[in-house]
Amino acid sequence: MLVTTLLLALGATSVLAGPVTRSTYAVKGSHPVPRGWRATERAPKDHKMELRIGLTQGDFKGLEKHLFEASNPRHTKYGNHLSADDVHHFIKPSEEASSAVHEWLYGNGILAEEIEYTPAKDWIKVNLPVSAVENLLETEYHTYVSEDGRTAVRTPEWSLPRHLHEHISTIQPTNSFFGPRAQARMEKRKTEVLMDTEDLAEYIPPPPDAATVAEVCNTTWVTPTCLRTLYGSIDYTPQSLDKNTVAMNNFLGEVSLRSDTKLYLENFRPEALGAENEYDIISINGGTTAQTLNATQLEEGTGIEGNLDDQTIIGVSWPTPLEVFSTGGSPPFMPDITTPENTNEPYLVWLEYVLSLPDPLPSVISTSYDDDEQTVPKDYAIQVCNTLAQLGARGVSVLFASGDAGVGGSGECYSNDGRNASTFLPNFPSSCPYITSVGGTYKFNPEVPVFRNRTTGLYTAGGGVSYYFDTPDYQVDALKSYFAETGVVEQYAGLFNPGGRAYPDLSGQSLNFTIFWNGTLRPVSGTSASTPAVSGILALVNDALIAAGKPTLGFLNPWLYGGGYEAFNDVTTGSNYGCDTEGFPAVAGYDIATGWGTPNFKQILALHGVDVAGPGGPWGSWE
Ligand SMILES: *[C@@H]1O[C@H](CO)[C@@H](O)[C@H](O)[C@H]1NC(C)=O
Ligand SMILES: *[C@@H]1O[C@H](CO)[C@@H](O)[C@H](O)[C@H]1NC(C)=O
Ligand SMILES: *[C@@H]1O[C@H](CO)[C@@H](O)[C@H](O)[C@H]1NC(C)=O
Ligand SMILES: *[C@@H]1O[C@H](CO)[C@@H](O)[C@H](O)[C@H]1NC(C)=O
Ligand SMILES: *[C@@H]1O[C@H](CO)[C@@H](O)[C@H](O)[C@H]1NC(C)=O
Ligand SMILES: *[C@@H]1O[C@H](CO)[C@@H](O)[C@H](O)[C@H]1NC(C)=O
Repeated sequence: MLVTTLLLALGATSVLAGPVTRSTYAVKGSHPVPRGWRATERAPKDHKMELRIGLTQGDFKGLEKHLFEASNPRHTKYGNHLSADDVHHFIKPSEEASSAVHEWLYGNGILAEEIEYTPAKDWIKVNLPVSAVENLLETEYHTYVSEDGRTAVRTPEWSLPRHLHEHISTIQPTNSFFGPRAQARMEKRKTEVLMDTEDLAEYIPPPPDAATVAEVCNTTWVTPTCLRTLYGSIDYTPQSLDKNTVAMNNFLGEVSLRSDTKLYLENFRPEALGAENEYDIISINGGTTAQTLNATQLEEGTGIEGNLDDQTIIGVSWPTPLEVFSTGGSPPFMPDITTPENTNEPYLVWLEYVLSLPDPLPSVISTSYDDDEQTVPKDYAIQVCNTLAQLGARGVSVLFASGDAGVGGSGECYSNDGRNASTFLPNFPSSCPYITSVGGTYKFNPEVPVFRNRTTGLYTAGGGVSYYFDTPDYQVDALKSYFAETGVVEQYAGLFNPGGRAYPDLSGQSLNFTIFWNGTLRPVSGTSASTPAVSGILALVNDALIAAGKPTLGFLNPWLYGGGYEAFNDVTTGSNYGCDTEGFPAVAGYDIATGWGTPNFKQILALHGVDVAGPGGPWGSWE
């Protein structure tokens, strides 16, 4: 009854045209299969899929407006983070959309009790065999295999009844081959050990009264003492332990091993010893919580990423409580095992979980995974990005690593759209305008864009411009100045989209972090290092803000681009080499190599009117 009334009230023409479930189909989503993947045989008819249907969010514009206002220090709503219910109110799909989609599902024999929802009901989840999905979407699924041995059941193109096109923004798994890639680099992983554990004394600890960056920082071994001194938090004692948490993500079977964390703390943050047993590891969708590595995992370096992230965050932000999310369900998987989990897109599974948590959420979430934007269908990237905006609206600073290949990997910089045109390769989710993307530096006084040459394993930090997302308002002026000063639009004409969202937004140290893995100390590099380092610093900022009775930072970018950059150490030389070019140069002010630069803990607080006493930090006191 309700359905009919609503449709009639809105005068939907499809009602007059006949039963809506049988309106003609038209292609709704189409995306080329990424290079390196090829179809093998038709997918087994009974292969189970966990189908996720993204409904058009009711008032995303309203949510976006609030997000930008609450992140703009000049707005009266600054710091006014939304509750889960407020967010759901904005993004809940319209009754019309919801009814139309349900009618279609019921009309195809799907029962109400088989349907699951996110709290805002903007994503619908239903478990179905391939045969049923093929019927729903008028398509054919194949099993695809990648050059590096991953498998996925996908289809490049899918259709919907025409009347549903406006109500459904994306459906997965269909044409997304998106698989987050860890951004930690440990070249010559199996043989290179920085130091035998017995010889550690040669490197550390620094003299107890060491106070300057020169005394505690060395590009061969970057420790938490160095990071805390360099970014000015060394003498700060966290005060809001019951009100503030920081979180990080493990995907792809990555683990954070407490035994290695213990060794790390013993050597680099002895007063924090014991914290290795205090963080929560939260398993989502069967994500691993294992604390040992088998022979295959040792060979593959499993745990290097997870260890880098948890050790760095604890090393910087201890005793702020840490939560480790471990999300399962990502490639590789074997299509003959018909478990539905295996076909999931891990970001969505994780987002569903986190967004269903009660307030307050962790104040900072660090994610060291990214993938090529062009492997992600645009409709899906937009829906995931809009979903990430919900985290920002609820007061979370969402940080993603910018990638480890500058403007693109050498020899890989071609478009995937059939033209095979030369192009820089932006990363997603870094290209999403509602998150903060973290680039990488090295050296001290001054820091410069990280550069490790080919001999030692090419590594430069990711930076680029999205083809999918337009330049957000907060970034327009910064980008205009950057283009005028550098001439990169002319220099790299055709290789990037000057009208897109540029990243990174800021940066941090990212080379030769002293990480323990499998019981030994090893240098690990990548924007996977800078992202947890900056996350740790921002978690401390939130601690001090809470203690001062102020709201947490939340979504950083409008604040950062609107003046917050004054609290960042500008990086002004070097560039982010990639695609066999010099990439984008770092210049004074904003640039696409390092964003606004690296954080200064005390200055960020000063800009928020919070004075944390004490000297410390290379800048001393700032008042
Ligand atoms: C950095 O550490 C290495 C290894 O201990 C040492 O050889 C080098 O002299 C140090 N550099 C500085 C500037 O202290
Ligand atoms: C990083 O560490 C390696 C040793 O692990 C060293 O060879 C290299 O010079 C270091 N890089 C810099 C910039 O110090
Ligand atoms: C090692 O552990 C991984 C993850 O649990 C598992 O997938 C793999 O089969 C194991 N390998 C061996 C040789 O036991
Ligand atoms: C891991 O540690 C064990 C025990 O110390 C050692 O035998 C093994 O070679 C190490 N494996 C790797 C890959 O580092
Ligand atoms: C794309 O063009 C490059 C350079 O001409 C070539 O090396 C590469 O094989 C081409 N790739 C495809 C998929 O056509
Ligand atoms: C690359 O780095 C290695 C080790 O630091 C150095 O010996 C070599 O000269 C560098 N090569 C170039 C081309 O910069």
